[in-house]
Amino acid sequence: MSFSSGVRTQHVFGWVSIIWFMSAVCIIVSESVELQTISQIAAQCGNNVTLKCDAVSSHQLDIRSFEWLARDKSVCQNGHGQPDRKVLCERGDHSLTLTLLNVMPDDQGTYLCKLRSTSGSGSKNTVVTVQDCLGSVGSSINESYAECWFTEVYPDSTVHWFQGDVNLTDLAVTQEAVDNQQYNYVSSKIVVQKGNLSQPYECSLWIPSTGKYLSNQQLHMVQKLVVNSSENMVKLQWICMIVGIMMVKFMA
Ligand SMILES: *[C@@H]1O[C@H](CO)[C@@H](O)[C@H](O)[C@H]1NC(C)=O
Ligand SMILES: *[C@@H]1O[C@H](CO)[C@@H](O)[C@H](O)[C@H]1NC(C)=O
Ligand SMILES: *[C@@H]1O[C@H](CO)[C@@H](O)[C@H](O)[C@H]1NC(C)=O
Ligand SMILES: *[C@@H]1O[C@H](CO)[C@@H](O)[C@H](O)[C@H]1NC(C)=O
Ligand SMILES: *[C@@H]1O[C@H](CO)[C@@H](O)[C@H](O)[C@H]1NC(C)=O
Repeated sequence: MSFSSGVRTQHVFGWVSIIWFMSAVCIIVSESVELQTISQIAAQCGNNVTLKCDAVSSHQLDIRSFEWLARDKSVCQNGHGQPDRKVLCERGDHSLTLTLLNVMPDDQGTYLCKLRSTSGSGSKNTVVTVQDCLGSVGSSINESYAECWFTEVYPDSTVHWFQGDVNLTDLAVTQEAVDNQQYNYVSSKIVVQKGNLSQPYECSLWIPSTGKYLSNQQLHMVQKLVVNSSENMVKLQWICMIVGIMMVKFMA
C-alpha cells in the first residue's frame, strides 16, 4: 500500500512538474517580441540611408523604450535623434526609423535596434558599409612624369595605368594617406616613356572590394608647338610689305 501510494505521489509530482514547465515555456514564448531589421546595407557615399526596425508581437505591445545604438551610444531614442548627429529619427506605432544623412566612411559600422516592453525585450543588428566615395580628381603630365591624384576616396583603392593596351601599373609609384574621417588621399606617378608620347596615358582608380573603377582620367601630352610670336610678327610684316608692293604696282 505505502509503496503504490508512493508511486502515485511521484506520478502526481511528475505531472505537476510537466504542467509547470509547459506553462513556464508558454509564458516565455508569449513574452517574446521579435524585432525585424535589414541585416546588411551597402550605402553609397553622400546618400541618405534608412534603417528601419519593426517590432512584431502576437500581443498588445506596451513599449517602454525603443532605440537605435551605434558604438554603444544611443543615436535615436523613442523618436528623438541626438542633436549632435546628422540623423533623422522617426517613431511609428511599432517601428523606429533611423536615417543617416549624407553618409561618410565614419558612419560605417554595426547599428543595434533595442526594444524594451512590458511583454518582453529584444535587439537586432543592421550592418552598414559605405562605398563609392570620391571627392575630386586631377592629373598632370610633362616630359618626365605623368601624375594622377584622387581625394576623399573610400574604400581602399589602387591606381591602374595604361597606355593603349599596355598595362603600365607595375611601373607606377602610388602613395596614400588617410585622414581622421577615414578618407584616403591617393596619388600615383609614372615615368613617361620617351618613345610613346603620341598615345595618351590613362590612370584609373580601382576599388578591389567592389570590383569596379571609380574614376578614369586620360593624360594627353601637349605637343610643344613652337609658336614664336616675334617670328610671326616678322612674317606678318613681310606679307604686309608684299601686299603693299602689289597694290602700289596695281595702281600704277
Ligand atoms: C538627404 O536628406 C536631406 C534632408 O531630408 C535632404 O535635404 C537631402 O537632399 C537628402 N540627400 C539625398 C542625397 O537624398
Ligand atoms: C614634371 O612633373 C613632376 C610632377 O608630376 C614634377 O615633380 C617635375 O618637376 C616636373 N618636371 C618638369 C621638367 O616640369
Ligand atoms: C594591370 O596590372 C595590374 C598590376 O599588375 C593588375 O592588378 C591589373 O589587374 C592589370 N589590369 C588589367 C586590365 O590587366
Ligand atoms: C610604345 O609603342 C610601341 C608601338 O606603338 C609599342 O610596341 C610599345 O609596346 C610601346 N611601349 C610602351 C612602354 O608603351
Ligand atoms: C624667335 O625667333 C627669333 C627670330 O628668328 C629668335 O631670335 C628668337 O630667339 C626666337 N625665340 C624663341 C623663344 O624661340
